Amino acid sequence: MVDANNGALPMTVDCVLHNGKLYFEGTIIEGGLAIDGDRIVKIGREPNLPAAGERIDLNRCLVLPGLIDAHVHLRGQRLAYKEDFLSGTQAAVAGGFTTVLDMPNNEPVICSVDSVRKRVELAERKIVANVGFLSSFPHRTDEIADIVREGATAFKLYLSEQIGGVNIEDDDELLQAFTEVSRLNMPLAVHAEDAKMIKNRTNVEKAAGNNDVEAYCRAHPPEAEVKAARRVLQLAEKTKVRVHLCHVSSEETVALVNEAKKKGMDVSCEATPHHLMATSRLLTDLGAPALTDPPLREKKVMEALWGGVREKVIDLVASDHAPHSIREKTADSVWSVRPGVPGLETTLPLLLTKVNEGLLTVNDVVRLLAEKPAQIFGIQDAGFLSEGGMADITVVDLHRVGRIDVDRFHSKAEYSPFDGWKVKGLPVKVFVNGTLVLDKDEVVADEGIGRVLRSRKSLTK
Ligand code: NCD
Ligand code: ZN
Ligand code: ZN
Ligand code: ZN
Repeated sequence: MVDANNGALPMTVDCVLHNGKLYFEGTIIEGGLAIDGDRIVKIGREPNLPAAGERIDLNRCLVLPGLIDAHVHLRGQRLAYKEDFLSGTQAAVAGGFTTVLDMPNNEPVICSVDSVRKRVELAERKIVANVGFLSSFPHRTDEIADIVREGATAFKLYLSEQIGGVNIEDDDELLQAFTEVSRLNMPLAVHAEDAKMIKNRTNVEKAAGNNDVEAYCRAHPPEAEVKAARRVLQLAEKTKVRVHLCHVSSEETVALVNEAKKKGMDVSCEATPHHLMATSRLLTDLGAPALTDPPLREKKVMEALWGGVREKVIDLVASDHAPHSIREKTADSVWSVRPGVPGLETTLPLLLTKVNEGLLTVNDVVRLLAEKPAQIFGIQDAGFLSEGGMADITVVDLHRVGRIDVDRFHSKAEYSPFDGWKVKGLPVKVFVNGTLVLDKDEVVADEGIGRVLRSRKSLTK
């Protein structure tokens, strides 16, 4: 392996990718790059690339930094029937992602040193993409620092239901936890929906005998999100914690985030592809396969989200890949259906389709799916291509057309609100840590080639 910093290239590197268009420092350069070991050792035009053991012709495809999905439920452990570390990370690379952030609402819930350690150990042997693990709050605030040392990338708070050790109805407990996360300078991701409002409205609908998706939407209104978002932003302002709002789905939440940013708060937020591409009409048409939290909204919300993306109030797009079994998605009553849709294998093609339609630029896609997630979640050496940097690379063919087909998913999920949708723009090759893991439509990775991300603090333990 070459020491990338001394400037000397080995005579022959492992692999050269040539005849590509590279997204490098905000512009597109025609050329290629050289990989040696797990690093990119050279980026440049054809004549400047070194000799290589293997040469791969990219056929003028677009070379992007390895993409990052900041909101993924890999499941595994007792939820492995929905998804596991292998199937989930195979879905990730098949969808063009080299890194995913995994959510803690598992069985067991990830909210302690032991549960993080166990999850990391199980994942390490299986993952074919890089994975960072989020933890919920532990029962004791002083365990937060230990969880960081154990390797958690960030913390996750659900205000929609009680998950983890802090009583979500108790602002003092939340303040304590926020203060500690802030002291450690760790990011805090929040599912902002007010649990009480949802519970009350659900009871009202159930009592009235309503059990369709419209009733579900009434029980999970935008106001529930706004109420929780307002509460979280107030707690964040007091504690100066870096707060990230997941899957925003109302105009008012976007406005609140905008306001907070203008005040100078360290706040960020994400939109999902389903909230950007679909409305409650699709939910009415499809029913359970399109049921997710928060639910799909009216067209004017979708438009406000696009406004948020354009104005950069919305920092990133994350799939909220939330796979369930077909049995869990099929029930007579909406109250028995598990909310959540798989997104790892549809997010990038859907966004690239928008690039082809002129609604997004390649720069936007790189910002939303690489630069911002890396920056917000402090993922070292990720989000951009660089000489000496990790060889996490996503090659996309902007002209390739396809159709979303759940039968071809690597995910265990066998449904999608986008099944059958035509897309233009697909990932064609993906490298994780210098290893080719996706080649055309095939995942060619060996189990365990992915790395577990560790925060800088855990590395110094
Ligand atoms: C998620 C899940 O299934 O874990 N479901 C969902 O509808 N988004 C939970 C969540 O992200 O809130
Ligand atoms: Zn060439
Ligand atoms: Zn959520
Ligand atoms: Zn989620």
